[in-house]
Amino acid sequence: MFQSSSLLVSCLLATLVAAGPCDIYSSGGTPCVAAHSTTRALYSAFTGSLYEVIRGADNATTNIAPLSAGGVADAAAQDSFCARTTCLISIIYDQSGRGNHLTQAPPGGFNGPLVNGYDYLAAADGAPVTLNGQKAYGVFMSPGTGYRNDATSGIATGDEAEGMYAVLDGTHYNGACCYDYGNAEVSAHDTGNGHMEAIYFGTSTSWGTGAGSGPWVMADMENGLFSGVTTGNDAADLSITWRFLTAIVKGEPGTWAIKAGNAASGALSTYYSGARPDVSGYNPMSKEGAIILGIGGDNSNGAQGTFYEGVMTSGYPSDATEASVQANIVAAKYATTSLVSGPAVSVGSAVSFRATTACCTTRYIAHTGATVNTQVVTASNTSAEQLSASWTVVAGLGNSACVSFEARDTPGSYIRHYAFALLVNAPDGTKQFTEDATFCPVAGINGEGSSIRAWGYPSHYFRHYDDIGYVASNGGPAAFDAPALFNNDTTWIVGAAFA
Ligand SMILES: *[C@@H]1O[C@H](CO)[C@@H](O)[C@H](O)[C@H]1NC(C)=O
Ligand SMILES: *[C@@H]1O[C@H](CO)[C@@H](O)[C@H](O)[C@H]1NC(C)=O
Ligand SMILES: *[C@@H]1O[C@H](CO)[C@@H](O)[C@H](O)[C@H]1NC(C)=O
Repeated sequence: MFQSSSLLVSCLLATLVAAGPCDIYSSGGTPCVAAHSTTRALYSAFTGSLYEVIRGADNATTNIAPLSAGGVADAAAQDSFCARTTCLISIIYDQSGRGNHLTQAPPGGFNGPLVNGYDYLAAADGAPVTLNGQKAYGVFMSPGTGYRNDATSGIATGDEAEGMYAVLDGTHYNGACCYDYGNAEVSAHDTGNGHMEAIYFGTSTSWGTGAGSGPWVMADMENGLFSGVTTGNDAADLSITWRFLTAIVKGEPGTWAIKAGNAASGALSTYYSGARPDVSGYNPMSKEGAIILGIGGDNSNGAQGTFYEGVMTSGYPSDATEASVQANIVAAKYATTSLVSGPAVSVGSAVSFRATTACCTTRYIAHTGATVNTQVVTASNTSAEQLSASWTVVAGLGNSACVSFEARDTPGSYIRHYAFALLVNAPDGTKQFTEDATFCPVAGINGEGSSIRAWGYPSHYFRHYDDIGYVASNGGPAAFDAPALFNNDTTWIVGAAFA
């Protein structure tokens, strides 16, 4: 009797451990109608494709699947497909079977500085993490990056009930509109209050705010980021400090809620649960059922953030169901891993960067005033000239997992990118500057040396073009993004400094 009941308990436990987030939502009577993740399967039986990548060398695409049913993504398959070139995430597949895939977001009411109105795709290797020790890639989204689906199946419309969660990088955000995941307008235009219901994460203070200086999880319901019943301050909506964040927004007629928790440990907390906003248009809601990632409903695309996984449900999930989902996320054991690779570029060392393109192998990254360029440097150059091509490696000003490069002839000034040109500037006290001065050295794209990736724009690398320094993306809109010679122009031999 004792033996058989303990056997029963272990079988039940095995079933519980094996269940994915969407199995849990199904058991709770609120099934997933969209399930997106580049890191893992969200159903225990899921073996299909998680996402598609497109590579710069030949525009070929491949699908990345989990290593096993219900398992972690096959990051090694991506690494081998993308070796010696660049890759972007072109599709994030819907695992629910409803075909609610996310693809490059089309033009909308707000298109920012984009060339043809389409948002950018995310670098495929910008957000490496491990899940239970196995490497996988999240979706690191720079300003201008966005994914969308305007023709969905099964997503809530009108005042129908829905739930959603997203696992995000709680340290990657900004104050622009709007890093969202969830329900939005099918037209990509602002069609009025209550036409959206999405998770927002960041430090926007244009509408609602929470306690402290943020970042906050809020609900984007269109023409308002809400932390509570008004677009004012709701002190119960706490600032987020976790590296891995579980964010929840859910809504049903007359009621909605915000919850958050550490995706790597512990339980969720409720930051708001109550009445719809006290402004016309939000009760009842007029949800339209498109799905957005990384942008606002009208395609507002100034925000940044990192997405690992998320779902949308049919029906208002119970707190018990969400607690089980959070336990499942914690059990996936999200953890950080190195952002750098290739030859060591050590903090405290003094370095030079030699170009590897055949034209230019005697040229080094130097600066003339604020302008970063490449110049020939030899022992015959004056010591001032040698110093202008010499850099001290310091811990990354915006992220200590990467590095910054201080000019040896101008202590206190660093290489940073601005409008994708490299400049040598002194910090201006902004978070933006520290991020724009942070770079992650990785194994050289052409197979030698190192490529120097912009931390905040991981599809962009140090490049020389007409002897001027840029952060360039392979095949991007600017002349300096030209695919010809991209791999060589973005690969550098990092050697000892001249002085
Ligand atoms: C990839 O596709 C883009 C857009 O159609 C095109 O401009 C580019 O030349 C293509 N690149 C290669 C290597 O085929
Ligand atoms: C590009 O780099 C490769 C690998 O180092 C080298 O073999 C090739 O000659 C270079 N080509 C040009 C045009 O720089
Ligand atoms: C080094 O000297 C050469 C020859 O005069 C010059 O062209 C080059 O710009 C100098 N390098 C630097 C970093 O000033």
